[in-house]
Amino acid sequence: MTLTVFFSAPAVWEEYRTLLPQLLADAGIEADVVTEAPDPAIIDYIIYAPSAPLQDFTPFTNCKAVLSLWAGVERIVGNQTLTQPLCRMVDNSLTEGMVEWVVGHALRHHLGMDRHIINPDHVWDATCPPLARERKVAMLGMGALGSACAQALAALNFRVVGWSRTDKKVTPGIPGYHGAEGLESALRNADIVVALLPKTPETENLLNAERLAMLKTGAFILNPGRGPLIDDEALLAALDSGQVGHATLDVFRIEPLPQDHPFWSHPGVTVTPHIAADTRATGAAKVLVENIKRGEAGLPLLHVVDRVFGY
Ligand code: NDP
Ligand code: OXD
Repeated sequence: MTLTVFFSAPAVWEEYRTLLPQLLADAGIEADVVTEAPDPAIIDYIIYAPSAPLQDFTPFTNCKAVLSLWAGVERIVGNQTLTQPLCRMVDNSLTEGMVEWVVGHALRHHLGMDRHIINPDHVWDATCPPLARERKVAMLGMGALGSACAQALAALNFRVVGWSRTDKKVTPGIPGYHGAEGLESALRNADIVVALLPKTPETENLLNAERLAMLKTGAFILNPGRGPLIDDEALLAALDSGQVGHATLDVFRIEPLPQDHPFWSHPGVTVTPHIAADTRATGAAKVLVENIKRGEAGLPLLHVVDRVFGY
């Protein structure tokens, strides 16, 4: 039987146009990959990205799964017309990109690199930074991305602690906290906070004034998770008071970040334009094909989103 796979993300189609049909064929799957679905009832799988115009899944009556090209699924998870399993993107190249972004920006702040890179007055300031072992890093979110970043920072001797929703002791050498009661222990006196949580009703505004006050004075924040994890006003106030030393933000409530947003001009904020980790077609296409293969073989799909918890 020939499957019909609807690639509903026109913005990235060119990257997949040759690759995806080739990988499906290599896996022994007969499939037509289409970018229009004149008869939604014939579609077996939908490949989705938030930029996709597709909002109403009701007519896709025979669709077996929706496969997201993105790791974060907050823009689709609550869609009431979606009754099929929803799988998110977990891929090595996505993880590698995130590890590089997090380690790079953590080292920038840890080593105080800006003092030497931007030194118009040629100041000879020989103050040495502390060693990484003297810095506590709170990794908020210990999933696919957070746990990889936590391990990379721990390998550089940072004192990493993790925080997740459930009690998980999967990362040797990294103390784990969980739930509302564990959050203060994770944040208390942290020098660096990395937010790698999904956006859900529970995580929105998690880093508010009260929580920012728990950090060590002058702490650094890295947010490659989602903009709404941080209360923007509370962050700006904490930057102005010196409670937070710098925030490097990759994600925002509105993207692109509006030109008049104070984050653009605040000296304590670095804006990166949602580039921490990109979904690369070469890796992602393999993940999509593996899930279609599993679906056809009646095996459990990989990376299925829990619709109750929203990630
Ligand atoms: P995972 O689903 O693998 O991990 C999510 C982590 O967050 C888990 O450890 C989970 O806990 C924890 N978590 C969820 N809800 C809560 C809560 N209420 N309280 C405490 N912990 C919670 O996701 P990924 O690691 O793959 O991705 C994380 C996020 O990174 C994505 O959702 C997306 O928003 C963002 N992202 C950003 C990119 C960028 O370029 N900026 C690229 C890709 C992703 P538990 O382990 O107990 O389930
Ligand atoms: C993702 C992202 O969720 O790029 O994949 O943010």
